[in-house]
Amino acid sequence: MKTVKPLLISFEGIDGSGKSTQCKMLYHELLDRGYGVHLYREPGGTTISEKIRDILLDRENVKMTPITEMLLYFSSRNQLITEKVLPALARGEIVLLDRFVDSTIAYQGYGRDLSLENIHKVAEVAIGDLSPDLTILVDTPLDTAETRMDNREPDRLEAENEDFKQRTRQGYLKLVKEDPNRFLLLDGRETIDTLKRMVFQRVDRLLGTKD
Ligand SMILES: Nc1ncnc2c1ncn2[C@@H]1O[C@H](COP(=O)(O)OP(=O)(O)O)[C@@H](O)[C@H]1O
Ligand SMILES: [Mg+2]
Repeated sequence: MKTVKPLLISFEGIDGSGKSTQCKMLYHELLDRGYGVHLYREPGGTTISEKIRDILLDRENVKMTPITEMLLYFSSRNQLITEKVLPALARGEIVLLDRFVDSTIAYQGYGRDLSLENIHKVAEVAIGDLSPDLTILVDTPLDTAETRMDNREPDRLEAENEDFKQRTRQGYLKLVKEDPNRFLLLDGRETIDTLKRMVFQRVDRLLGTKD
């Protein structure tokens, strides 16, 4: 197994943007190339985190407050990084995350209008200074994303109104402006293959393209 250097890569975007498609393809490509690579979805990725996921996405939880929601995302995230992500990085492996902290800033911060300062405080408690080496934002207009969700039963967040989703999408774009070096911003209207090429190109650069 190749262990070049630890890498943490997160995938972000609104639901239906196409991020799971891309991170699964990258995961299989890296596996085929012999890397030690892991893919986790957020919220989730550990037994406890999957239980928290069920609470978060359950459409019956109409009474959940924005702060409970934010804290639960970070609880799930702390469990995931402690059990899985940090040990893998310590072994020099690659971790791909289907959503990470930027989701909380975009959805709970910009979408729910929670204080960004408070979110950053909780982030410090939950994940310390862990930050992705690369974050791939698949930016897809709402109407395009909606058409890709056709067969999916919407969860609690997916069932939110259009304004919430627009604020979330714009929140992501603000994050890219604030930290352009960490992000690869992709136009989600491109084909799956075009996006895949762009993702692989950027990741190859990160890996040093030695192999
Ligand atoms: N670039 C793309 N163009 C067209 N369809 C896509 C594209 N990316 C993903 N899809 C399709 O859209 C649907 C949602 O994609 P998915 O990757 O699950 O989105 P997300 O994880 O962001 O919610 C899937 O059926 C997928 O095959
Ligand atoms: Mg997905």
